[in-house]
Amino acid sequence: MARRDLLVRLAATKDRRAISACDPSVARELNRRELIDSAIAARQCWVVERGGAVAGYGVLTTNFFARDFVALLFVAEAHRRNGVGNAILETVEQARRGDRLFTSTSESNLAMRALLTSRHYEPSGTILNLDPADAELVFVKFLR
Ligand SMILES: CC(C)(COP(=O)(O)OP(=O)(O)OC[C@H]1O[C@@H](n2cnc3c(N)ncnc32)[C@H](O)[C@@H]1OP(=O)(O)O)[C@@H](O)C(=O)NCCC(=O)NCCS
Repeated sequence: MARRDLLVRLAATKDRRAISACDPSVARELNRRELIDSAIAARQCWVVERGGAVAGYGVLTTNFFARDFVALLFVAEAHRRNGVGNAILETVEQARRGDRLFTSTSESNLAMRALLTSRHYEPSGTILNLDPADAELVFVKFLR
């Protein structure tokens, strides 16, 4: 269950600036901005408000072998370990269309791996050669 001080809601165009303030790579990476913009338009981007401020966001896509895939999940540093990432995943799991939800993260990302383990995601393969120094681990959660 999401914590009571957190409000998860669909992102709107007006949230673009707040999303960018959470995640510094949004300003640097055009690809990420385009992905967020198209997810907002498709109602596949969620933000979490904590104390009235946007604390994190997540994006669901279906362009991973035509399967539901959490393409982006980011919590502002100051809001981490307060259940924000957990709340986003819980919402995305409810919003997905199919019977399983995929995501991926780099092997070195222990925080994301711990979050996925805590929500009962299972390993679903490894992609080499994206970052030669850090394998990409794929995870899946089967849902009804
Ligand atoms: C990974 C990330 C999304 C986690 O978000 P978060 O809001 O801090 O996670 P939560 O507070 O919901 O954590 C839920 C549980 O996950 C686990 N967890 C989360 N971060 C952890 C960490 N740094 N170390 C160990 N366990 C961790 C814990 O079990 C935690 O429960 P607890 O706090 O009661 O012990 C966040 O660290 C982040 O945005 N990182 C940068 C972007 C990123 O790596 N995105 C992942 C996609 S590549």
